[in-house]
Parts: sequence; structure tokens; C-alpha cells
Amino acid sequence: MKVLLIGAYGQLGTSFRKFFESNGIDYIPVSRIKRENKTLVIDISDVSSCSKVYEVVRDSKVDLVVNCSAYNNVDKAEVDEYKVAWFTNAYAVSSISVICRDLGVPLIHYSTDYVFDGNKGYPYVEEDKTIPVCRYGITKLCGEEFLRYTWEKHICLRVSWVFGKGGETNFIRKLLKWAEGGVVRVSIDEVSSPTYTDTIVEASWKLYKLGAFGLYHLSSEGECSRYEYAKFVLEKLNWRGEIIESEQSFFNLPARRPKYSKIDSSKLKNTVKIDIPYWKDAVYSYLREEYGL
Ligand SMILES: NC(=O)c1ccc[n+]([C@@H]2O[C@H](COP(=O)([O-])OP(=O)(O)OC[C@H]3O[C@@H](n4cnc5c(N)ncnc54)[C@H](OP(=O)(O)O)[C@@H]3O)[C@@H](O)[C@H]2O)c1
Repeated sequence: MKVLLIGAYGQLGTSFRKFFESNGIDYIPVSRIKRENKTLVIDISDVSSCSKVYEVVRDSKVDLVVNCSAYNNVDKAEVDEYKVAWFTNAYAVSSISVICRDLGVPLIHYSTDYVFDGNKGYPYVEEDKTIPVCRYGITKLCGEEFLRYTWEKHICLRVSWVFGKGGETNFIRKLLKWAEGGVVRVSIDEVSSPTYTDTIVEASWKLYKLGAFGLYHLSSEGECSRYEYAKFVLEKLNWRGEIIESEQSFFNLPARRPKYSKIDSSKLKNTVKIDIPYWKDAVYSYLREEYGL
């Protein structure tokens, strides 16, 4: 089989490449930059890129499209980069959905816990009302909706607080930069669950193999605040500085984040056999992989 892997060098795309390579699955990696010989260079936020995606899916006899690409800078999406966020997270998803539908190719796509307002107080399920509180959330929700109304052979996985190897940044890498100053402030009023890209790949592949199309939530077992998450990472790395609990409002960031956005993986667990790790175990596995603990 052959997979078109869009966003192949981001965090999730990197886990997919590792998975495809170790399982002998043929894939075409897509990026905005030529990263290796086989990279197909496409900027999906560019309206004219659709014909390129269409041609490669048709001519290379692609059996599955996996879209790991996204515009994920939540604060910039709130202000000056809203347009590029919209074109990447919404418009491009609509184009890719139409291409997949017209060529009869299943599509796996990813969304976020930021489609919720964070006021529910206990884990969100797939049927819960979506009310994004920031523009990033709006763009991701629009992408989901375009997909849902366009092509039934899709799997859309909402995931939270993603971390993994590859890609440019994630919360842990940002935290370690802040920690260089000896004191870090992290919010206590943002609660969700950090989710490892390897778990996301495993869940996606199992759903695909079963032909279990539709919308699913996936997050690590348990939940934590950003503060607890940061404390765990810094303790594991034997950091000796000071970590201070803060409220979101202290940081005065352009984009609001949901205060509580833990998503419930029950539907997924009732569909495929999967051991979803507790968040601390998942983070620890990543720290071992990335920082050689
Ligand atoms: N990161 C999180 O905390 C988080 C939380 C919830 C949900 N999610 C969702 O999970 C999925 C995977 O996220 P991730 O953390 O793996 O993302 P990531 O590390 O930021 O990678 C995203 C990739 O998208 C590609 N990309 C961005 N704009 C593009 C464009 N215009 N054309 C083509 N490619 C483009 C980039 O690849 P190149 O630079 O190589 O072009 C980048 O490597 C996304 O749908 C994301 O929204 C992420």
C-alpha cells in the first residue's frame, strides 16, 4: 500500500515515518521544504497546491492520505497569522477532503481539544457541543466540519497537548528554554492531558485497519494542569530552579485557552484494543527517547 503523509516532519509526522519505516509501508512525505530526496514539496495553504495533491494521489496510486500538517501557533493565529492558520487548518482540509472523496481514498486527519470552551468540568466526549474560545480552535473546528460534510471515509482524531520527537517545538522544549532562566511560571488553571505521538499513530492505524471511520477523542489516561506537567518534566530532568504556579491571566497572551479540556477516549477504547498510557508514563517514555534519561 502507499500513503501520502502530509506534515511528515512535524511531531506526529515523524512518529508516522518511524512507524511506516519499521513496518515496510511505502509513503510519500509532504513538506513545504525539501528535506530529503523523496520529499514532495507542497504548501497546502496555497490555494493552487490542490492540483498537485490531486495529481500525486491519482498518479502515484495512493491508498490512504494522512494529514498531520497544521498551523499550531495558537497566539499568532489569534492576531497577525489568522489567515495562514485558516488556510492551513480549514481551507486546505476542505480541499484535501474533496480530493480524497473524488478519488475514493480514505483520509486520516487530526483536530484538538481546543474546539471546546473548557467549562464542562469533566472529560469531553465526541457528542459535546464545540465552542472554541480562540481563533486557532475555530480554524481547527472548521477543518473538522468541512471534512465531516465532504467525505465519509475519514477518521478524525481529536488529540490534546501533543508531544513527540521531530517538529520544531512542543511544550516540553519550550519549558526547557524558559527553565534556563532558573525560574519558571506555569499555569494551574489549564487542565488536559499530554498525549504522545506514538500513541496517536497506534490508535490511528488500528482504526484505519478496522475501517472504523468517524470522529474519536484520544488523550493519555489521567489529567493534569500545565503546572503539574511542567513540574513532572523538570523533576525528572533533575532541574534545580524554582517553579511558580500562575493563573493563565498572568501571562496576558493574545489567545484564550480552555481551562479544562481533558478529552475522553472511551469511544476509541471501545472500538479498538489499545493500551493508552497514563500521562506520566507517556511523558517519561518521551524524555527517555529525546533526552536519553
Ligand atoms: N501540538 C499540539 O500540542 C497539538 C495539540 C492538539 C492537536 N494537535 C494537532 O495534531 C496534529 C499534529 O500536530 P503536531 O504537533 O505534529 O504539529 P507540528 O509538529 O507543528 O507539525 C505540523 C507540520 O505541518 C506542516 N505544515 C504546516 N503548515 C503547512 C503548509 N502550509 N503546508 C504543508 N505543510 C504544512 C509543517 O511541516 P513543514 O514545516 O515540513 O512544511 C509541520 O511540520 C495537528 O493536526 C495539530 O493541529 C496538536
